[in-house]
Amino acid sequence: MQLSSLFLLLSLAILYRIGQDQVLSLENGLALTPPMGWMHWERFRCITNCTEQPNDCLTEDLIKGQADKMVSEGYLDAGYVYLSIDDCWMSKQRDSKGALVADPVRFPNGIKALADYIHSKGLKLGIYEDFGKATCQGYPGSEFYLEQDAKTFAEWGVDLLKLDGCNSDVHDMKDGYEAMGGYLNRTGRPILYLCSWPAYVQKDAALTDYPAFKKTCNQWRNFDDIQDSWDSLYSIIDYYGSNQYNLSAFAGPGSWNDPDELIVGGFGLSQNQEMVQMGMWAMMASPLFMSLDLRNVRPESKALLLNKNLLAINQDPLGKQGERLWKINKAEVWIKPLSKPGASAISILNTDNQGAPRVFHLSPAELGLPKAQKYNMTDVFTNKQYGPYMYSQSIQFTIDPTSMFMAIADPF
Ligand SMILES: *[C@@H]1O[C@H](CO)[C@@H](O)[C@H](O)[C@H]1NC(C)=O
Ligand SMILES: *[C@@H]1O[C@H](CO)[C@@H](O)[C@H](O)[C@H]1NC(C)=O
Ligand SMILES: *[C@@H]1O[C@H](CO)[C@@H](O)[C@H](O)[C@H]1NC(C)=O
Repeated sequence: MQLSSLFLLLSLAILYRIGQDQVLSLENGLALTPPMGWMHWERFRCITNCTEQPNDCLTEDLIKGQADKMVSEGYLDAGYVYLSIDDCWMSKQRDSKGALVADPVRFPNGIKALADYIHSKGLKLGIYEDFGKATCQGYPGSEFYLEQDAKTFAEWGVDLLKLDGCNSDVHDMKDGYEAMGGYLNRTGRPILYLCSWPAYVQKDAALTDYPAFKKTCNQWRNFDDIQDSWDSLYSIIDYYGSNQYNLSAFAGPGSWNDPDELIVGGFGLSQNQEMVQMGMWAMMASPLFMSLDLRNVRPESKALLLNKNLLAINQDPLGKQGERLWKINKAEVWIKPLSKPGASAISILNTDNQGAPRVFHLSPAELGLPKAQKYNMTDVFTNKQYGPYMYSQSIQFTIDPTSMFMAIADPF
């Protein structure tokens, strides 16, 4: 009797451990708040003809130039520390020992020298590979070379690996991404691990294993690549709002859903729409990887990227991913609990594109705020203070088309 109850206790303890392990995150000490940096892809793509496009061509000079601006323009001080090179940095062939090599014309000094430069500026270097036979743009992939490539990256001083999933079998991804995670770990160098794996399997529920993503990766892409337009931006926001896999449940210190780069400062968004992206990426505790040309940034875009209220919401140590409370008639309300007791960030998003501002009447209660007698609100974009408002007092919000109101709500 005693023995069997001891056995029962032990099995319960083991079951409990397994239950806990399933929601554990990758423990490499990195990404305790959403990672921040710059990534070349959305803005600079695979531009490799430097005769034709000298200013936009992917070269070590482009990367060094962006690094210089990250420091001199205050982005590093604001927290943007990773400078991440995406696809198309490689030579089309591995060397005779099977090692990856950087394109000798565009990166004549190699990645190690570039990493030294980046580190000398106080920044961290990110790099890109692909789990399959070839990268999305046809450069050598890591299939059959995972361990060797992990060692190469560590030797070069790489601090972040984005591992894409083109040209591979989705059924191999779980084993493959886990294996690469193990090889990265064994290099002994802390390397932030950004996985594209979930984005490739998201349409197949049997392969969509969020506990496994969380345990393997610091940050994972769930959905389509962002393009330079409102439609692309909103399709991503709506995907996270629809939350088909309860995404927010898996976000937290060490592990983040990644809706892709910030296109603030690009060509495709109005100023209001840039505010929506920056606001929603803060709301969703999303990694903040800018993709713009830092040599030439509009002052309004720069102010948004450096907005202290938004960065504080994004980097809040509680690490809660905001959730959409409701979406009705092209309007939606989102809420993100903050670490300050009782405080939340709230957003009211008007996604209608008819040319007139719309009026909404909503109380703190209808905004989903926890019960409190009164609330003060701080507009995150203007820093203006509003309130105090009684919990059930109706407040008028007048919001432009494809635009948002966003505030920090404090119980009073
Ligand atoms: C680069 O662009 C120039 C000008 O358009 C063209 O003449 C040249 O063939 C291109 N080089 C390559 C390698 O595609
Ligand atoms: C490797 O994994 C172990 C166990 O999770 C962890 O304690 C350690 O910090 C990791 N090391 C690196 C370099 O990621
Ligand atoms: C997500 O949450 C809803 C309700 O909270 C639940 O019914 C549903 O099964 C969850 N979906 C997944 C994939 O866990």
